[in-house]
Amino acid sequence: MAQVILIENNKTLNDLISVNLTTYLGVDLIQRKNAQETVSLLAILPNVDLIITTQKVDDEPTAEILTHYITANKLETSLIVLGSDQKVKNDFTINMANPKDWEQVIHGAAKVLGINQNVLAKKAVPDYIAVPVRYFLNLENVNCDVFIRIKKSPTEYQFVKRIHNGDTFSKESIKRYLDQGLENFHIAKESYKNFSIFLSNRLVDKIDTPDMELTKKIQIMGESYDIAIREISKLGFNSETIQLTEAIIQNMVKNFEKNPEMSNLLHKVINSQTGLLYQRCHMTSVVASEMIKNLKLEDPKAFDKIAYASFFHDIMLADREDLSKINSFDELEKANLNEQDWDMVFNHAMEASVLIRKHPEAPIGADEIIKHHHGASNGKGFSNSIEKLPDLSKIFIIAHHFVLELIRFKELGGEPKPVTEELYKRYPGPDVAIIIKALERTLKRKQNNEPKI
Ligand SMILES: [Fe+2]
Ligand SMILES: [Fe+2]
Repeated sequence: MAQVILIENNKTLNDLISVNLTTYLGVDLIQRKNAQETVSLLAILPNVDLIITTQKVDDEPTAEILTHYITANKLETSLIVLGSDQKVKNDFTINMANPKDWEQVIHGAAKVLGINQNVLAKKAVPDYIAVPVRYFLNLENVNCDVFIRIKKSPTEYQFVKRIHNGDTFSKESIKRYLDQGLENFHIAKESYKNFSIFLSNRLVDKIDTPDMELTKKIQIMGESYDIAIREISKLGFNSETIQLTEAIIQNMVKNFEKNPEMSNLLHKVINSQTGLLYQRCHMTSVVASEMIKNLKLEDPKAFDKIAYASFFHDIMLADREDLSKINSFDELEKANLNEQDWDMVFNHAMEASVLIRKHPEAPIGADEIIKHHHGASNGKGFSNSIEKLPDLSKIFIIAHHFVLELIRFKELGGEPKPVTEELYKRYPGPDVAIIIKALERTLKRKQNNEPKI
């Protein structure tokens, strides 16, 4: 479904545009009051197709700010500006001189979104939906036609069919598109639902293939994780993303049970060709689960809670892997972020905990661990005073910190640091010390008979 942001403070005009956009064009409409609010949203939703805005909101040069933002961030977002007759200097803006001509706005929006005018007259809603090219790396065929989008002018796109329904294709042919810098394929709106079911089923089948070699399984779990968190952060939960997260999480739990050698499993994950977010997720889950076992914690749901928390804790940073490494207030300040990014990092634990409550399968309590994962009891910012947090939260924080350091060490090399000494200093308190000791025990137990990471 096309995503459109509308900034129009005139109530009547706003209603007219909203109703027509949603009824006739079937878009997913998001209301924003000004450029500032819109930019915050674009930071987490960069794939918005179109913004319709008045030229100015009070003193704010709204259209101008958005033009700069779209250009600076190389977004594929189009812009319709109401009440401007200035000459356009870029290829994504359409100015509409008469701000009250809402019919023209709807027609302009239809064109930008690739919605056919004849069909518009019939009030049906054809549309094309962008799907990242790399999603196709795990498919050998597809259940619908796949197009690429070519820009002809600010208002016109052409969709050229590249893969036919039922065609088989190789991984290499998809890699070639990626090498050429193509980010998205497009799929007709009416096929999208079936496509996402198809994709998710294929991934779930692959993940659940019995006797698959562990390295290969980690690879496919990593790729599926990547797809799942992006889809969830964009669209929220639906039956496909839920099915996919379930398959990945249950496999993480199963793999943990089947592989009693922790460092062997960690070794395979850290050396796999998968994204860093996935590696941290899976490794945090493994280390925290090992600590739970070591502490003989009596909570039958503990492993599940930890797996869910590992999966979702940084979902708000799904598109910003760089920001998910920040693990203290000091690091946040030193990162020199703009206001939106700073806010995004500061609030990501709290926001993820709210999101996971909408997941019907998530065990109760996973949200609490997510909220606490940087030590702050309200999920905002960072804190080292974790003594009073629940045990599972403390375990997660310690495991999470340890894994961050492990990956940092793998990336940067250098002398291995005694991480646990740092942990004792950073997180004081007798109860935390018991938990850090459990980490030490699990690490020591393995060192003698296992390959080093
Ligand atoms: Fe994290
Ligand atoms: Fe985090």
